[in-house]
Amino acid sequence: MARLKTVFSCSQCGAETSKWVGQCPSCEAWNSLTESVYTGACDPQSRALAPASAVQSLDAIAAEDTIRIASGMSELDRVLGGGLVVGSVVLLGGDPGIGKSTLLLQALNALNERAAVLYVTGEESIQQVALRAQRLGPISANLRLLAETRLGRILECAGQEQPQVMVIDSIQTVFTDLLRSAPGSVAQVRESAAQLVNFAKHNGTGLFLVGHVTKEGALAGPRVLEHMVDTVLYFEGDTTSRFRIVRAVKNRFGAVNEIGVFVMTEAGLREVGNPSAMFMSRQGEDVPGSVVLATQEGTRPLLVEVQALVDESHLGNPRRVCVGLDANRLAMLLAVLHRHTGIATTAQDVFINVAGGIKIAETASDLALLAAAVSSLRNKPLGKDLVVFGEVGLGGEIRPVQRGQERIREAAKLGFKRALIPYANKPKKALVDMTVLAVKRLDEALQHLQQ
Ligand code: TYD
Ligand code: MG
Repeated sequence: MARLKTVFSCSQCGAETSKWVGQCPSCEAWNSLTESVYTGACDPQSRALAPASAVQSLDAIAAEDTIRIASGMSELDRVLGGGLVVGSVVLLGGDPGIGKSTLLLQALNALNERAAVLYVTGEESIQQVALRAQRLGPISANLRLLAETRLGRILECAGQEQPQVMVIDSIQTVFTDLLRSAPGSVAQVRESAAQLVNFAKHNGTGLFLVGHVTKEGALAGPRVLEHMVDTVLYFEGDTTSRFRIVRAVKNRFGAVNEIGVFVMTEAGLREVGNPSAMFMSRQGEDVPGSVVLATQEGTRPLLVEVQALVDESHLGNPRRVCVGLDANRLAMLLAVLHRHTGIATTAQDVFINVAGGIKIAETASDLALLAAAVSSLRNKPLGKDLVVFGEVGLGGEIRPVQRGQERIREAAKLGFKRALIPYANKPKKALVDMTVLAVKRLDEALQHLQQ
């Protein structure tokens, strides 16, 4: 008889202790330890499935090209790096109701013509899934469906069906009888995921795991889940807006930070082929405080509108608020602006917003952010034909950014006529219908904007 062992594992980081404590000793999260009981039997059993492997030398191994299955949804394929790799595991996270189930059901529907697929639902009944599928348009024949939460049964059915692509919606509902802790607990999520990953690798099944996110926005369950899978995709955007962005935050088979853009319609998610046009809200007149930034998401150049509002403050400590950009960086850039060009915003509140609900993490947004702030402060529009990118250093210098040429090309394609960019990103040849304003310093950049 196997000995029972009680452990307490942290729901934030997955660390285990033998006694319950109020604060996790590893990640210092409060009240995150939950009890789980191992029967002790599960580990050797599941590990024994793995075939014995021998040590080999690297140069003797033939590197095969990864085989990919294109889902037929080009935006999804793009974030995956060109399609789902056979035998790879993808974790899809996002807020409730953002469209995870919808996206995967659509993808399976599209895939079904090329590969055997299985959709395992643990959250909705078969009828609910069928109802949703009807809204999504014609359903292809042979979309196999299973409503099950017991891991043993799922693996058994998957073994019989031998799907090439399988979806588990969601990993938090799956549980194994080998552990006594509740479904959704760290131990259950980890063990279930480990066995599913094992299945996928052995059978060459492309596996999508749907994961819930916590209040803080991280994937629920231990961090270890992110290490176990090949690709981690996150749904961005809020449920009140129609736009949905799927971002690759980890990808063993493609570029990280790659995004796919969708809109939610009555008939499911629709792909957006030209997102640059979508993220620019301004049509018609040219307003102060608005500038177009050429940013780069993964391998894709993207034009977004940065808006600034600089207004007289009545507070002792003026506000600096950023939506879609880093607020600490804003404070730093305003200090650079003051120190190197003499433009003070100490008596003003500064609000910055990126239109369209997209989040920008790269420093190439610095110059656009300051250009928008100065434009709002001076109440002077910058012109509708201007596109800006560049990093601003603490010394007031404009530093180059990666893939400058691609950003300029994307802007030219969308009809922009002037580009304010770092000097080091200046194209070698003059462009036909684009005036390039290449600058080395911040004051030089602002002079261009005054004209
Ligand atoms: P869902 O895919 O169930 O989200 P998740 O699995 O991430 O929790 O969310 C779908 C949401 O989108 C739901 O609020 C209803 C809406 N929706 C549409 O607007 N159009 C549609 O065609 C479908 C299927 C859902
Ligand atoms: Mg769902």
